[in-house]
Amino acid sequence: MKLWSGRFKENTNELMDLFNASIDIDSRLYKEDIEGSLAHSQMLSKIGILTSDEYKQIENGLIEILSDIENNRVEFKVTDEDIHMCIESLLIEKIGVVGKKLHTARSRNDQVAVDLRLYVKKEVKKIMLLTLQLMEALYQKANDNVEVIMPGYTHLQRAQPIRLSFYLMAYFSMLKRDYIRFSNAYQLMDSMPLGAGALAGTGYETDREYLKEILGFDSIMENALDAVSDRDYVIETSSDIALGMMHLSRLAEEIVIYSSKEFDFFALSDQFSTGSSIMPQKKNPDAAELIRGKTGSIYGNLISLLVMMKGLPLAYNKDMQEDKKQIFEATDNYKISLEIMAKMINTMTFKEDKMYMATKEGFLNATDLADYLVSFGIPFRESHEIVGNLVAFAIDNNLTLEDISLDKYKEYVIDIDEKVYEILDIKNCVESKKSAGSTNKKSVLKMLENASKWLEEK
Ligand code: ARG
Repeated sequence: MKLWSGRFKENTNELMDLFNASIDIDSRLYKEDIEGSLAHSQMLSKIGILTSDEYKQIENGLIEILSDIENNRVEFKVTDEDIHMCIESLLIEKIGVVGKKLHTARSRNDQVAVDLRLYVKKEVKKIMLLTLQLMEALYQKANDNVEVIMPGYTHLQRAQPIRLSFYLMAYFSMLKRDYIRFSNAYQLMDSMPLGAGALAGTGYETDREYLKEILGFDSIMENALDAVSDRDYVIETSSDIALGMMHLSRLAEEIVIYSSKEFDFFALSDQFSTGSSIMPQKKNPDAAELIRGKTGSIYGNLISLLVMMKGLPLAYNKDMQEDKKQIFEATDNYKISLEIMAKMINTMTFKEDKMYMATKEGFLNATDLADYLVSFGIPFRESHEIVGNLVAFAIDNNLTLEDISLDKYKEYVIDIDEKVYEILDIKNCVESKKSAGSTNKKSVLKMLENASKWLEEK
């Protein structure tokens, strides 16, 4: 018999039971549901709604149910509807009539709201830790490769030479923002909805401050109607995940292209590559591709949540039951992607010579030459034009800028001398960047130092 069946004359249709049930998905909230019920019953005992003996019975019953579930002694059934009804029914089965007192001063609406918040809070903490681990992996590789030079790109065309560590630290910066974003989201979601009742509060003199302390929230939600209607924290977490996953996807894409024969800059360890069923020579970057692919599902989770909530009247509506599938999928996929990415970075090697050779072809020193001509009093727009002509000349004659004779340079700038060849040297081009945050060694060492300090403080 259903716990809410009092006003019904007929049984629910079987198909309706199946359609209505969320237990297949929300059973993973069992721990948080029991945590919430333990706190609630403790509070009910404090305010005298439960005697201390009744509270003890409920507490023991709930602890036994926890262990039954963890030891696979509970079979979740569609007729249980959801994890909240399931646990309450199990309690009543176990301890009898006292179990029927647990739901005093509570609704499933504030119950599910607190369960999910407790769950998402834990997930955000795990995500923050995994983000730090990936940042650590990037930092280590950057620290080990300060002298390695690679081409930097815009439009995926070779642009200017940069340090590999500078490139890796760009991702570190992105992940640092992700970390801060999750930490901000955590603070905002750290407010307790329990005690809101169905929507209007309850007629009992409950002690929500006490509940808040037991459940480890920073504050209590101020308005009961908002408390049961709010899924902002689910959407915000999903949105932060979507953004973070976009970062992982860009890195994944670069791992795919840089480990191709066409680039040949990065070498993935065998541990994070797979073979082909037909082509014996193949080593494919599947881990990176899956991260890129799962980014699509993660965007889907966010869009589903946003659309689900759009236009819902206050307070609870059953539409909101759909939130769990989305947030569980998003957090699961994001956590494993962060972990795989960290391991992939840790075990990856870099082909220094290939990367350096690639900086020699494609006129990556052209901007430095244009800047150099400015030192002869030539306006930048003109020096840009001159170097453009020199590049065209070099292409026509199959030369690099370093191969062009001093006489040819003098046709454009009469005072130019041998120093131009120093300017064109790729290593010089990297070091010549003077602005704060640039790719020169001093600046990159500063980034590494700041990163190491930041990581240590976490
Ligand atoms: N299974 C429901 C959910 O996940 C629990 C809340 C049900 N509340 C209600 N009034 N039907 O949203």
